[in-house]
Amino acid sequence: MNTQDYIKMDETYGAHNYHPLPVVISKAEGVKVWDPEGREYYDFLSAYSAVNQGHRHPKIIDALIEQAGRCTLTSRAFHNDVMGVYLKKLCEYTGFDVALPMNTGAEAVETALKIARRWGVEKKGIENGKQEIICVKENFHGRTITIVSMSTDEVARVNYGPYTPGFVIVDYNDAKAIEDAITENTCAVIIEPIQGEAGVYVPDEGYLACVRSICTNHNVLMIDDEIQTGFCRTGKKFAVDHENVKPDLMTLGKALGGGVIPVSAVVGTKEVMEIFTPGSHGSTFGGYPIACAVAKASLEVLEDEHLAENAQELGKIFREELSTVKSDKVVQVRGKGLLNAVVFEEGFEAYDVCLALKEKGVLAKQTHGHIIRFAPPLVITKEELMDAIKIIKGVLEAL
Ligand SMILES: Cc1ncc(COP(=O)(O)O)c(C=O)c1O
Repeated sequence: MNTQDYIKMDETYGAHNYHPLPVVISKAEGVKVWDPEGREYYDFLSAYSAVNQGHRHPKIIDALIEQAGRCTLTSRAFHNDVMGVYLKKLCEYTGFDVALPMNTGAEAVETALKIARRWGVEKKGIENGKQEIICVKENFHGRTITIVSMSTDEVARVNYGPYTPGFVIVDYNDAKAIEDAITENTCAVIIEPIQGEAGVYVPDEGYLACVRSICTNHNVLMIDDEIQTGFCRTGKKFAVDHENVKPDLMTLGKALGGGVIPVSAVVGTKEVMEIFTPGSHGSTFGGYPIACAVAKASLEVLEDEHLAENAQELGKIFREELSTVKSDKVVQVRGKGLLNAVVFEEGFEAYDVCLALKEKGVLAKQTHGHIIRFAPPLVITKEELMDAIKIIKGVLEAL
């Protein structure tokens, strides 16, 4: 079968909830992927930042195979000999006391919302059913009914009612709007430290620190969604580290699974996490031995290979180089570390640029029509980056 055959099968038998580029990936290694015809591409999406450690990192694959040869699934009805070791590593890596393992990003967000609501009742004294959580416009936290109830993206929301109540939506990058929205029933604020899906919106310096102090002053939990920005993507372990902010809860996912399997978690302080009691939350697969072995290895790779430093250094080069592009179609180049975006004029079809990039050997995807996100695996070398930049510049300058 060739590329066209595979695409036709997807379109025939798969629900049409995505509009992928017409490329089929059949092999992947490091920062590169190949299609069935053997054409080579740089991966500048990294599965929405889930492949920070590069495709099929040998250390992560070894951990997967070793664990698969011993024990794959236990459920939480019993203990296993991997989960505790992994959660200790995760707590040390993040600087939090306690972690709760889940599978996908959306599940981690749901978990954090549940923690916040319950904490609101049990620790803050809010009447059950009255809890409010503040979120911001253009957020992206996942796809469940409750999470799309927070969304302002009509495409993601339309016709999924009735929506989950209890969310108050304010402008992003406006700390005062958060403070003004706080009532005696507010239990939490949930934000992305950089809005990835919205088009890599980096808030003003000081915003996150300001949100932190507002939450502290009003006894409201700060939930920091680092599912896309975490694990070295922005040049620090977590994007809040740029402002030395310590949230109360962090949601983690994507690169925690090293681009191999879905692994997510919520980390928090003991005082907050102790609101869970047996039976109050759970997941059949959360904390399963394979996930724990893979996630532990994924964290070790981030540290051993200094991927935060690499993202910081190469991200700077990427933005410097792309801001010299001679094209009147490009309005802005922005981002942090290796999470960057090229913004075109409103109404411009960035999908066509992605098609042209694909023809030249770079895979990237538009978000919101006129923005392209560029987020290669963090193991990319300077030589590989410069090679890809040459291709990207060539395509942009030919527009
Ligand atoms: C910030 C953020 N939160 C949550 C999610 C949802 O993660 P998942 O797709 O694994 O459910 C995403 C996915 O893009 C994300 O970017």
